[in-house]
Amino acid sequence: MKRFSKIIGTGGYLPETVRTNEEISQHVDTSDSWIYERTGIRSRHIAAENETSTSMAEIAARQAIDAAQIEAGEIDLIIVATGTPDRVYPSTACLLQQRLDIQNCVSFDIQAACSGAIFALSIADQYIKNGAADKVLVVGSEICSRLVDWSDRGTCILFGDGAGAILLDSADEEGILSTHIHSDGEYEDLLYCPNPQVATEENKDEAGFINMRGNEVFKMAVNTLGRIVDETLAANGMEKTEIDWLVPHQANTRIIAATARKLKMSMDQVIVTLENQGNTSSASVLLALNEGVRDGRIQRGQVVLLEAFGAGFTWGSALIKY
Ligand code: COA
Repeated sequence: MKRFSKIIGTGGYLPETVRTNEEISQHVDTSDSWIYERTGIRSRHIAAENETSTSMAEIAARQAIDAAQIEAGEIDLIIVATGTPDRVYPSTACLLQQRLDIQNCVSFDIQAACSGAIFALSIADQYIKNGAADKVLVVGSEICSRLVDWSDRGTCILFGDGAGAILLDSADEEGILSTHIHSDGEYEDLLYCPNPQVATEENKDEAGFINMRGNEVFKMAVNTLGRIVDETLAANGMEKTEIDWLVPHQANTRIIAATARKLKMSMDQVIVTLENQGNTSSASVLLALNEGVRDGRIQRGQVVLLEAFGAGFTWGSALIKY
């Protein structure tokens, strides 16, 4: 019998502290109206000093486990997507495994910047489809606020902190229909964050901070996401009209609107969370999915397209029958 990966639970966590555009504009030369018009963002959540990617991942993961009505010990594999791991090693996934008190499962992190959740989902789907795992926990958790240079108005307006999680299980009915992931390392200079621990004399001044050529990233994102939509529909022999919901990476409303236009979808069929969350990198798609599921917009049996684009460049999509 054919095996599929089915979503059986979702979860999400956003830190309590909110930083508004107004607050940012007290420190750099910008304004609420500029930020909102260009990005669609009004505020973002900022992790408290004692919070880490692992602590946020734990809260999101426990929610997904509760929603799935399983015991944590049933999980076979944990994949955490993060660009802000607590430690160089052990991986955030191993730290999460410890917090969830799971003795016997495999845990590892993946790093694909803002596309991390889609990459993790794609890996999880392969493990389930080929029979190597049944229950897989996928988490995206990010403390972007600690990678942001708060004096750089081109980047500090965009990012936020949070964690999203989903639990997948093997099933004999359709769940994840297909995943598509891509990378092109040619574009390193447009979006990068040097690791301060291993900085060289040459890059030590910019180490630890997000560097971005925003306008060029914007254009690449719009074109690339347009292509991945075509690829996903073609792989499934589907028409645009068959997609019920678009759950995009939350980087900029204008990028999201361009993908919706390409799909001939109204914005009412798009889950948009960035107004109050900003770009939470690998957490964003999972947080948006969690929101759409929990507020009842996304219903069982509906077709949902997830997509993301990030540094690397990396990009990908997942088509799901929820
Ligand atoms: N407030 C006011 N002015 C700002 C500003 C801010 N926060 N940030 C940049 N500007 C200025 C620039 O300095 C520039 O001024 P100049 O014309 O005097 O040189 C002007 O606005 C236009 O800059 P530009 O970078 O072309 O603006 P933009 O319309 O492309 O908007 C972003 C900037 C960052 C909002 C937009 O490019 C973007 O969202 N890019 C994609 C980023 C992204 O998604 N990254 C993550 C990928 S996962």
